Amino acid sequence: MTRLVAGNWKMNGSLAANRKLLGELAVQSGVEVAVCVPFPYLAQLQERPAGLFLGAQDVSEFEVGAYTGEVSAAMLAEFGCRFVIVGHSERRALFGEDDLLVGRKARAAMARGIVPIVCVGETLAERDAGQAMLVIGRQLAAVLEVLGREAMAAVVLAYEPVWAIGSGRSATVSQVSVVHAGIRGWLREQRVRAEGVRILYGGSVKPENAAELFAVRDVDGGLIGGASLVGEDFMAICRAAADAV
Ligand code: PGA
Repeated sequence: MTRLVAGNWKMNGSLAANRKLLGELAVQSGVEVAVCVPFPYLAQLQERPAGLFLGAQDVSEFEVGAYTGEVSAAMLAEFGCRFVIVGHSERRALFGEDDLLVGRKARAAMARGIVPIVCVGETLAERDAGQAMLVIGRQLAAVLEVLGREAMAAVVLAYEPVWAIGSGRSATVSQVSVVHAGIRGWLREQRVRAEGVRILYGGSVKPENAAELFAVRDVDGGLIGGASLVGEDFMAICRAAADAV
C-alpha cells in the first residue's frame, strides 16, 4: 500500500508564506503527498508542484443552500480537492462536532468523490482510564453507521491521540502499534474490507521520529500539523514515508 503523508496547515498561512512554502515542496516517488489548506487558499493552490494532492480541513454535511459559513463538498471538488480532513480533534473539542456529524461529513465528501481523512483518537484522561480503544471504536462505529461497509473501506483513517497533537510528545512506537492493529482488527470484526484502508498516524510527527513511526506495521502514512509548515521538515517526513519498508 502506498503511504500517504498529508500536511494539515490548520489556521496558518498567508499568500506570501504559502508561496514560499510551496517553493520548498517537491513530490517524491513512492509516497502520496497532500496538503490540507484553509479554504481561501484552495485558489492559490491551483498552482502547485505536479503530483501534490490538495485537501481541505473540513466540509459541510449539507449539499447546498442556506447554511451561512459552510463550504460544500461540491465546492471543494471544483477546486480539485482529493482529500478532506473530517473529525479532527480540534473540531470535535472546540466546535462541538460529534461522532455522527463526522460520519455525515465523510458521506458528503464521498458523494462528490473526495476521500475523507477521518480522524479518531483518545484524550489523555481516556487513555489513562484504559479506554483508548473503546473511544476509538465508538468514533469509528458512528462513521460506519452512516457510511456502511462498502464506503467505510474507501476512507482514510487517521489515529491522532489528542494528547500528542501539537504537544511535541508523539505516541510511542508500541502505543501506535497497538492502536493501529486494534483499528484494523476492529474493521475486520465489522466485516469491512480492512486491508486496503490506509491508517495514518498523527501527533507530533517530526523528521526525528518519522522513520520509526512509519516502520510500524499498520502505519500507512502520517497526518502532519506543525512540521508541515516547514518545507524542509515536511519533505524529510515524506522521504521517511517513501523509504519505510
Ligand atoms: P501536530 O498536529 O503534527 O502539530 O501534532 C497533527 C494534527 O493535528 O493533525
